[in-house]
Amino acid sequence: MTTADLGNVGTNAAIHEETIEKYRRYVNTSFVAGIEPVVVEKAEGSTVHDADGTEYLDCFAGISVVNAGHRHPRVLDAVRAQLDQVVHAATYIYHVPVVADLAEKLAQVTPGDLTKSFFGNSGAEGIETAVRLAKAYTGRHEVISLTHSFHGRTAGTLSITGNQARKTRGGPYLAGVAFAPAPYVYRNPFGTDDPEVIADRCAEMVEWAISYQTSGDVAAFIAEPVMGEGGILVPPSSYFSRVKEILDRHGILFIADEVQSGFGRTGEMFAIEHFGIVPDIMVMAKGIADGFPLSATIARDEIADCLRPGEHLSTFGGNPVSCAAALANIAVLEDEQLPQESARKGAHTIGRLQELAKRHPLIGDVRGLGLMIGAELVTDRESKGPASKQAVEVRRLCREAGVLIGVGGQAGNVLRIQPPLVISDEQLDHAIDTIDKALAIVAGQ
Ligand SMILES: Cc1ncc(COP(=O)(O)O)c(C=O)c1O
Repeated sequence: MTTADLGNVGTNAAIHEETIEKYRRYVNTSFVAGIEPVVVEKAEGSTVHDADGTEYLDCFAGISVVNAGHRHPRVLDAVRAQLDQVVHAATYIYHVPVVADLAEKLAQVTPGDLTKSFFGNSGAEGIETAVRLAKAYTGRHEVISLTHSFHGRTAGTLSITGNQARKTRGGPYLAGVAFAPAPYVYRNPFGTDDPEVIADRCAEMVEWAISYQTSGDVAAFIAEPVMGEGGILVPPSSYFSRVKEILDRHGILFIADEVQSGFGRTGEMFAIEHFGIVPDIMVMAKGIADGFPLSATIARDEIADCLRPGEHLSTFGGNPVSCAAALANIAVLEDEQLPQESARKGAHTIGRLQELAKRHPLIGDVRGLGLMIGAELVTDRESKGPASKQAVEVRRLCREAGVLIGVGGQAGNVLRIQPPLVISDEQLDHAIDTIDKALAIVAGQ
């Protein structure tokens, strides 16, 4: 199939060139440097179409956002219907039915006794809210985070981000933040590859951070249940329950940052469900509304209710159109069993990447949960030197072959495969075949 078969999508090299030029001149973006951009004229399902007529298989989903696929018809219908009702009404003096309906739905689909949502617009705004809630509820002021973590790009969220590559030239950062080592099984300082030992050691390091890096005035511990930007790091299964015991002993709240791992991405509705614990506060964004901007910070009643009138507000937060999209999106995830599909497709994809690892010494580690998958490239398996240039080259070659993948990790050496959960089995196999060929070319260079 070519883009011409899609009716209103055609080959328009002029629009492609013009858009790139206008971006170069007028759009302030730092990440595009070094990447040849795709000029998206139209997107649907797992496919994006460049104005120049090229069709791409999207294995990155707009950075893990369009879990139900680009422009899912049910999401679009809900948005069109909401456009005829009300587009904006800030929560200050207005109540909107669709916002109430979404809040009720989130209380139903999130784990345990998480009940009351604060709506914002972005992941970072949601995290800021979570930290503020934790401080207000506990009356304490410090936060423990993890190395390799990413929580956003506001001053507050960068302060609790444990990844130098994301923090350059933004400091000095907020005081009162301590870091414990990420449960990064492939690269850990404990001289073992036994996940349970690593879980224990890393949990003990949370207690160590409380004892030696803080004044004991700790409000919250924040973690991504599966770390995304850090290179798709999946903690050992007992890690979070061990950490939770420690936090409970110290009266510290657990904030789960599900911004990237939520809404079916990892094979459960939320990644923390794999670990059998319930967080005190949970933050959702990205996959919540299939591409419409929205975040939700949900907490137990007594935590949510600690905000005083007028203390916290977001003008655009809980936009009715985004909330309508989110309600339809969650219905699609449930009706099409997309978390289950993610688990099945993810297991198949990880299996295929493990097969590739037998033939490609560049692959040092394959890991993931559901369709949140990483393949860490190394110069050699003994030294585990990060093969960062090779990862970027594999991404470039895949793009040339019509497959979009991401790259992440502290050293930028982890291939990230996070497609829409509606991607077909054939499309997934095609993506892995393409990565296979790209790895062979890079190894031969
Ligand atoms: C785990 C995590 N938290 C927070 C954020 C920040 O989200 P946003 O870019 O919507 O502010 C991201 C974005 O990549 C993320 O992956």
